[in-house]
Amino acid sequence: MSTASLTLDPHFTVGAINRRLFGSFVEHLGRCVYDGIYEPGHASADAEGFREDVIDLVKELGVSAIRYPGGNFVSGFRWEDSVGPRAARPTRLDLAWHSTETNQIGLHEFSSWLEKVGSELMLAVNLGTRGVAEALDLLEYANLGNGTDLAERRIANGKRDAFGVKMWCLGNEMDGPWQLGHRSADDYGKIASRAAKGMRQLDPSVELVVCGSSSAQMPTFGEWERVVLGHTYDDVDYISCHAYYEEKNGDLDSFLASGVNMDRFIESVVATADHVKAVRGSDKTINISFDEWNVWYIDRFEGVDKITGIDNWPVAPRLLEDSYTVADAVVFGSLLISLLKHADRVTSASLAQLVNVIAPIMTEPNGPAWRQTTFFPFAVTSRLATGVALEVKLEAEHYDTEVYGTVPLVDAVATHDAATGGTSVFLVNRSQMEDATITIDVAALGPVGIVEVQTLSDTDVYAANTLEARDRVGLATNAPALCANGVVTLTLPPVSWTALELRAE
Ligand code: AHR
Repeated sequence: MSTASLTLDPHFTVGAINRRLFGSFVEHLGRCVYDGIYEPGHASADAEGFREDVIDLVKELGVSAIRYPGGNFVSGFRWEDSVGPRAARPTRLDLAWHSTETNQIGLHEFSSWLEKVGSELMLAVNLGTRGVAEALDLLEYANLGNGTDLAERRIANGKRDAFGVKMWCLGNEMDGPWQLGHRSADDYGKIASRAAKGMRQLDPSVELVVCGSSSAQMPTFGEWERVVLGHTYDDVDYISCHAYYEEKNGDLDSFLASGVNMDRFIESVVATADHVKAVRGSDKTINISFDEWNVWYIDRFEGVDKITGIDNWPVAPRLLEDSYTVADAVVFGSLLISLLKHADRVTSASLAQLVNVIAPIMTEPNGPAWRQTTFFPFAVTSRLATGVALEVKLEAEHYDTEVYGTVPLVDAVATHDAATGGTSVFLVNRSQMEDATITIDVAALGPVGIVEVQTLSDTDVYAANTLEARDRVGLATNAPALCANGVVTLTLPPVSWTALELRAE
């Protein structure tokens, strides 16, 4: 048994929690769109061909903004292909994922789906094979009310009011050699600056995300951010971070400590952005859009999932369909804790991705839709983490990991909502062997009571929800917990994620 203690005080805040922290990502990749959110022949499909069972799960997940349409896909995408009469839309090769894109879903259809799920649209422009002119065309088509060729084309295509898209990504992972139109930091910084200036000339209200590194492991990491922000600091609002984690070589101890790596990643990007700010003597602060994060077994994908050759690229193949375990969900929950711990600077984030592709929601064609293990920490955190993130004074025992050195056995963050009087604490126990007994000093909150304790754990840390056993893993609400004399005590089982909900009494 290990022990840990936390002290909560509503006066010690990290920052306000932006709802955009609970965003996600839908890419034209594999079965995310086709045979995922869209399956016209399915029994639950609505009049537009969208699966209502999936819509219900996305609503339950509580997703704020959704990044679209890529990802690597966007770097070869011609947005004009996907608007206008469907019968006239061209079929194209998607070079990123070696698939065939039918363009049956585009901006209009996706925006209609977003209205059904109640999420905001976040659009990416293609700065891989295309440039400033096409980015401006898309912005004009999407955001201008009427009176120009492009705005009138949108109206003729069935959308009288502008889409009014606020968040725009200036390309995707342009530091990655795999990216169509991959560039040096210097070249990308220049084109991103030109695109951003032009976009603001057209619509000053847009919020712009410039590409940071596609991972902290890239050889150019750090220098990329410095150079790109050197060109774009005055033009953009956010720099992106992307990070995926997986258990490698059976080293579960290190995998469970992935949140430590995410903490360091965020703090490095903040330091670099603030360095550029200092050098320029700027008053402006650049925040982070963590617009791709998840557990992803990339090694598995690189080993087996590739479609090769030039002919017969499939439509909506099964790609990146990771099945998530309890251990994956615990790590996933710890990544949410890391995002919340940095809520002052990470003000937008996108879980990559949403349906079928490294996703919390899975579907079968003509079959059911179900929640993966990762669904639960996201849904609960999105619902409970409101108001401000608190600085918790965490004292925990440590363990040694091969990859990240000595790290705390427990990680935690708390949130407090002055409007509702609600306080929530999110915790992970990284130990594979021992329970963790947690003592939380809540005296500064005044009289509080426990509403609920929800825990994700299992004696089999590799248990998963599959087509055959869709409800194998879920949340338990029977963790031992006590609240007395301004102290909450609870016990976390090994390899577990927990959400504690408190209410003022
Ligand atoms: O989310 C899957 C892929 O991961 C995205 O297309 C790309 O941006 C990243 O490398």
